[in-house]
Amino acid sequence: MAKLKVKFACTECGTESPKWLGKCPGCGQWNTMVEEKETVVKTQGMGSPLIQTKEKPRPIIHIESGQEKRIETTNLELNRVLGGGVVPGSLILVGGDPGIGKSTLLLQTSHALAAKNLTVLYISGEESVRQTRLRADRLGALTDKLYVLCETNMEQINDAIESVQPDFLVIDSIQTVYDPNVQSAPGSVSQVRECTAHFMRVAKIKGIATVLVGHVTKEGAIAGPRLLEHMVDCVLYFEGERHHSYRLLRAVKNRFGSTNEIGIFEMGEEGLREVNNPSELFLSERPLGVSGSTVVAAMEGTRPVLVEMQALVATTNFPSPRRMATGIDHNRMTLIVAVLEKRMGMFLQTQDAYLNVAGGIRLDEPAVDLAAAVSIASSFRDAPTRPFDVFFGEIGLTGEVRAVSRAEQRVKEAQKLGFKRVIMPKKSLKGWTPPAGIEIIGVETVAEALSKAFA
Ligand code: TYD
Ligand code: MG
Repeated sequence: MAKLKVKFACTECGTESPKWLGKCPGCGQWNTMVEEKETVVKTQGMGSPLIQTKEKPRPIIHIESGQEKRIETTNLELNRVLGGGVVPGSLILVGGDPGIGKSTLLLQTSHALAAKNLTVLYISGEESVRQTRLRADRLGALTDKLYVLCETNMEQINDAIESVQPDFLVIDSIQTVYDPNVQSAPGSVSQVRECTAHFMRVAKIKGIATVLVGHVTKEGAIAGPRLLEHMVDCVLYFEGERHHSYRLLRAVKNRFGSTNEIGIFEMGEEGLREVNNPSELFLSERPLGVSGSTVVAAMEGTRPVLVEMQALVATTNFPSPRRMATGIDHNRMTLIVAVLEKRMGMFLQTQDAYLNVAGGIRLDEPAVDLAAAVSIASSFRDAPTRPFDVFFGEIGLTGEVRAVSRAEQRVKEAQKLGFKRVIMPKKSLKGWTPPAGIEIIGVETVAEALSKAFA
């Protein structure tokens, strides 16, 4: 006989408690405990009653290895983020703000795979089949191997999987799916956890590559318990500014590849388009010969991108001047401003300073320091730097310019895009020969860099 139990679970980490608590004892977050009703059904063991396998432990040397077969999507950016394609039987979680393009990306991917003669099942819990068809019309994603179902009941979804036998399965979204054996509402901690666990078993046993779409909370994390991220093989975030047309796909966890890669897409009338040369996109609106604008050679994963860095320094009206950074860490900017004040004698105490990475991309590596410093100095002095200079290098507290990784790739990208000079850390010049046709200036201090930039 099933017994109804009331408990409270944290929406962040899944910690359970018999009574409500203001602060979660598991993760320390406030106001995250929500009531969950759960019917406790006695089952044998942990396995789902729907699927049972009898596997014995085997010596590891008897397990066939071979290269992991991957399904290559036609989308090079997606392949890159996944580490070379979709692994059969893997479970991928895709998160992102509403309206960012998750459904669009997955419908396009589904279509591309169906066009390669794979059977694809797209389960939409948010849109009707007609809406999905309308979207597919716009995207030109019409193939007969692409099956669409609008359903949220997990048992029905299971029947559909049984009848279609897909190679690739999309659940859009995991928060709308519910298991009728669990009493809580769809989207609650227990439902999301149970359903994900179920899809994980189905994926592993049947070898279906499965993509779950997840909503994100206000803070930007995937809604639902944190353990969701532990259960799946890959966690991808689809991000971007609503007012910019391009989107970044970033892996934060990947059991089959690196998490350093990003995929860049542009949202257009016909859905998402891959962006193969991001630097051109990021530099397309750059004004030439104005003060406060420089170009940085940054790395996004293993790929160099050139991005414009803008600074504006203006006399403040406040007792303490404002420091605002968009696209780079605020603390790094404060540090760079302090170095310029102390080591370069720039009187920035009475100046507001704004720093912006143009185009809305976020650069998290310290190699962007030098470009930020030169931009701020350029705006402060109201003196433009040469329009075809590129900067990179980390700045230390004594005003030294420190070595950064992958200098050669950054320089090559700058050369490819027709830049004339690179001002970079001297220590990063060791061990490789700079290409011809571009002037390389190795510097050791910020002072040296500024004197070269404004020469
Ligand atoms: P969608 O994929 O529905 O977002 P999500 O599933 O992440 O909530 O994306 C919807 C947005 O994308 C919507 O604002 C319209 C825009 N869009 C285009 O600009 N072009 C297109 O071809 C499509 C299909 C959508
Ligand atoms: Mg959607």
